[in-house]
Amino acid sequence: MRGLEHIPLLYDAGMSLGDALGLSRWRRALVGDLHGQVLEIGCGTGRTLTYYPDGADPVALDPDPALLARAARRAPHVPLLVAAAEALPFPGGRFDAVVTSLVFCSVDDVPGGLAEIHRVLKDGGRLRMLEHVRATSPFWARLQDGIQPAWTRLSGGCRPNRATEEAVEAAGFRIDPGAHKVRGVLRCFSASKQ
Ligand SMILES: C[S@@+](CC[C@H](N)C(=O)[O-])C[C@H]1O[C@@H](n2cnc3c(N)ncnc32)[C@H](O)[C@@H]1O
Repeated sequence: MRGLEHIPLLYDAGMSLGDALGLSRWRRALVGDLHGQVLEIGCGTGRTLTYYPDGADPVALDPDPALLARAARRAPHVPLLVAAAEALPFPGGRFDAVVTSLVFCSVDDVPGGLAEIHRVLKDGGRLRMLEHVRATSPFWARLQDGIQPAWTRLSGGCRPNRATEEAVEAAGFRIDPGAHKVRGVLRCFSASKQ
């Protein structure tokens, strides 16, 4: 499904505002201390790719070639490939860390994508996620449910009402309570492969 998040110029214009309003700090916290072999899934136009420290060796992928073309200009040193979370083109146990930012709202098969992440992570590897999730307040969650069909069509796949943390734990990860940042419906956390 195509929509606003698949128009690179428009996506970057909107996200520049989000980053200026504080999202850039979340991106830095998400990846700023990573090292070793890192896979970023759904990198889009590459807005998080510029925050990796020197000790990290990232590879990134996205199913949308137009977004990747922009990511290539933003982070020319990072290898990029066209692929989706549900079918990661890597052998098992390849990565020290897997990163997603604002992606699992859009992945079609959430358990399938998380199972693939579990497979490609080394034992002891970390899953780092920055995601917006289902509201904890029943009122706001019902509102998310109400706007979801129209929002998903307009955005090109984003579901605002996903319980992503629950899905992550059901997929065999443990979210570190000491690395679980919450603000409104935004979450930034680190989870270990169990
Ligand atoms: C809201 S954008 C986020 C882009 C970028 N990560 C960021 O933080 O700005 C959602 C991204 O998820 C990607 N995406 C959608 N379905 C996906 C899937 N099944 N596997 C991997 N990426 C996917 C989209 O192509 C898009 O680039």
